[in-house]
Amino acid sequence: KPRLLSGMQPSADSLHLGNYIGALLSWKELQQTHDAFFFLADLHAITVPQEPERLRENTRRTMAQYIAAGIDPSASTLFVQSHVPAHAELAWVLNTITGFGEASRMTQFKDKSAKQGQDSASVGLFTYPILQAGDILLYQAADVPVGEDQRQHIELTRDLANRFNSRFGDTFTVPNAYILTDTAKIYDLQNPTAKMSKSSESPAGIVWLLDEPKVTEKKIMRAVTDADGEVRLDRENKPGLANLLTLFAVLTGRTVDSVVEEFAGGGYGTLKKALAAVVIDVVGPIRARTLELLDDPAELDRILAINAARADEVAQATLDTVYDRVGFLRPA
Ligand code: TYM
Repeated sequence: KPRLLSGMQPSADSLHLGNYIGALLSWKELQQTHDAFFFLADLHAITVPQEPERLRENTRRTMAQYIAAGIDPSASTLFVQSHVPAHAELAWVLNTITGFGEASRMTQFKDKSAKQGQDSASVGLFTYPILQAGDILLYQAADVPVGEDQRQHIELTRDLANRFNSRFGDTFTVPNAYILTDTAKIYDLQNPTAKMSKSSESPAGIVWLLDEPKVTEKKIMRAVTDADGEVRLDRENKPGLANLLTLFAVLTGRTVDSVVEEFAGGGYGTLKKALAAVVIDVVGPIRARTLELLDDPAELDRILAINAARADEVAQATLDTVYDRVGFLRPA
């Protein structure tokens, strides 16, 4: 089976609909055909300030949401990044073959550091994509299922893999970004030209997987659309409506065209009401299962310990080769 790896930052107490549709949905599919590794990117999370107790709690909560959304911890390797020391270690080596200018071109860093103010952004935030490249290369992953916002980081990973391979000899698998075009980007309900994001400024624009059904419904009913009032797909001029149509189509497994056909001629209210029901149908059981799993944190920790051992074995083997190739004297 081909290898696959992906992860999310446990930087909020709930994942959102963008994480679910852009990533978890394809993870669930691909775990059938791949030797899959899914992890909680806690090293990445601390590139912006985190409250320690909340980070610990959110790591378990995010893990519970992976499982509740259909990731099977006995078929896939589901682990915490900081449990496997090789992540931080490989990142150091990759830092040394990454150009300063190359790292400076990463748009996620530019966006996030602009939000924080250039001077208070950490160096960790700057080297974030290099740590991410290490995550992927350690496991010799062939496919990396992510949303569109991660494409540039996967491109950097490919560049670094090729560079290392040509400088030190074939060591890394060069990974492919696995991005589903239709669902690669889910937009904020209040600001439908910006992606739905954990750090959004409009809380009403984000549908959290752990929202209560009533809250979900309210957010969808209040989603920003347009004054024209006609149900048709026009991503440029009617981005809010296009987002709602996309959500409906993806979550019901239908084409956007068939959704437009069903709701054409009706008002936006009808579409929104139907969409709210669809979202609650999908998210409701995930929420219930997550809360159930969180009742037994010791069991979650046990699963993580078993999986960490397996991840560590694979990662350490790659790191040993890397240390050898770059010329480190290995302990006798
Ligand atoms: P994070 O936690 O920001 O996002 C997790 C996943 O959700 C996707 N995503 C979206 N997809 C569609 N529409 C949206 N509005 C939306 N918002 C988020 C992201 O593309 C991502 O797939 N850097 C990664 C974490 C990471 C990683 C890795 C991923 C660290 N190391 C190695 C893959 C491989 C991130 O920002 O996750």
